[in-house]
Amino acid sequence: MKSSRIPGFYKMSVEERVNVVKEFAGLTDEEAELLLSFSALPKDIANIMVENVVGNMQLPLGIATNFIVNGRELLIPMAIEETSVVAAASNAARMARPQGFTAKATEPVMIGQIQILNPSRDAVERIMERKEEILELANAQDKILVKIGGGAKDIEARWLRDDMMVIHILVDVRDAMGANAVNTMAEAVAPLLEKMTGGKALLRIISNLAIHRLAEAEVVYKKDAIGGEDVVDRVIKAYELASLDIFRTATHNKGVMNGIDAVVIATGNDWRAVEAGAHSYAAMNGYKPLTTWKKNEDGDLHGHIKLPIAVGTVGGITKVHPMAKLCLKILGVQNARELAEIIASVGLAQNFAALRALATKGIQAGHMKLHAQNIAVMVGAKGDEIEMVAGKMVEEGNIRVDRAKEILEEIRKNKKI
Ligand code: MEV
Repeated sequence: MKSSRIPGFYKMSVEERVNVVKEFAGLTDEEAELLLSFSALPKDIANIMVENVVGNMQLPLGIATNFIVNGRELLIPMAIEETSVVAAASNAARMARPQGFTAKATEPVMIGQIQILNPSRDAVERIMERKEEILELANAQDKILVKIGGGAKDIEARWLRDDMMVIHILVDVRDAMGANAVNTMAEAVAPLLEKMTGGKALLRIISNLAIHRLAEAEVVYKKDAIGGEDVVDRVIKAYELASLDIFRTATHNKGVMNGIDAVVIATGNDWRAVEAGAHSYAAMNGYKPLTTWKKNEDGDLHGHIKLPIAVGTVGGITKVHPMAKLCLKILGVQNARELAEIIASVGLAQNFAALRALATKGIQAGHMKLHAQNIAVMVGAKGDEIEMVAGKMVEEGNIRVDRAKEILEEIRKNKKI
């Protein structure tokens, strides 16, 4: 069975890593070359994706190793500019082995909102009586979606003020992110809702607070795998600060989103939508952490995450952007629910990594090590030399290009002797 546990992955050259990923995910020669080209988005595609294109803005694509989600070994593509995130996720996933993460997601049901101004007093009753008619009209907009089991499934109506109500149309969008399908349906049913309610429709748009499209993941970190019961207690105390103080909650959730966004971006999904969903969900009962951490009866650390994750494996740019397509292939996901389950697991892993580091030696030590490795690579260190140059600079507390060059020269001189 293939394993995502690949010791020394970080020490390999980019070419070696690409080979490992190629082998793992069954990539073609062309796909491997695309990775190595470091320029995966051609002008013609970029030019149709947005307006007034003048170039590409690129992000590094890293691979987090060691992940197991629902028993499946996974290499996780992460597009992110921040040092340490990929390493931290890999590290957290390694400590969670061999059980890994257990995750599940609800059906992919999104909400379309139609705002109605000055409806009649019996508007809610009228809508509920003729619900089927509304659903039918909505579903007439997207026959293909209905054919594959999706489509508008339910209607909800709420008064917001004496002169304003909002109607929700709940749409199963299957493997799409869903904004297009939902917005089309919301616009299509608005005139009918006006007739039924005697009011005027104003906004007709998706809600990013996708409370019917939730993903959750769980993990148990054995105390011995993470540094003992003291570390378990420290992580829980760190979590408690986030549950008690909004200034910490913001940063706690930011750390969660480091992992989530990186995979959302790598797979060509709308990370602003996922961000909006995550934070509004976290704020539903006063802004709270997206994860919870507690000690189980064996003294091990139990973590849980739950949030809306509106991502697609079809539609949008998932199949247009060559790199997004490739990242979905690396993940080997069959559908949007599976992708959401993986993303939730990465968010949980990322949060654990941050809390463990913060509650023990602080995060700067790790950052410095990675920074030192980057500098070592920059001056030409290869293989074992990277660790040796970086280690020495960290030990000396002197992480600089000129010092890295000197150390590398010394190492190479000693090798010759
Ligand atoms: C930095 O990008 C993320 C952290 O601040 C998250 C956290 O504090 O939990 C390390």
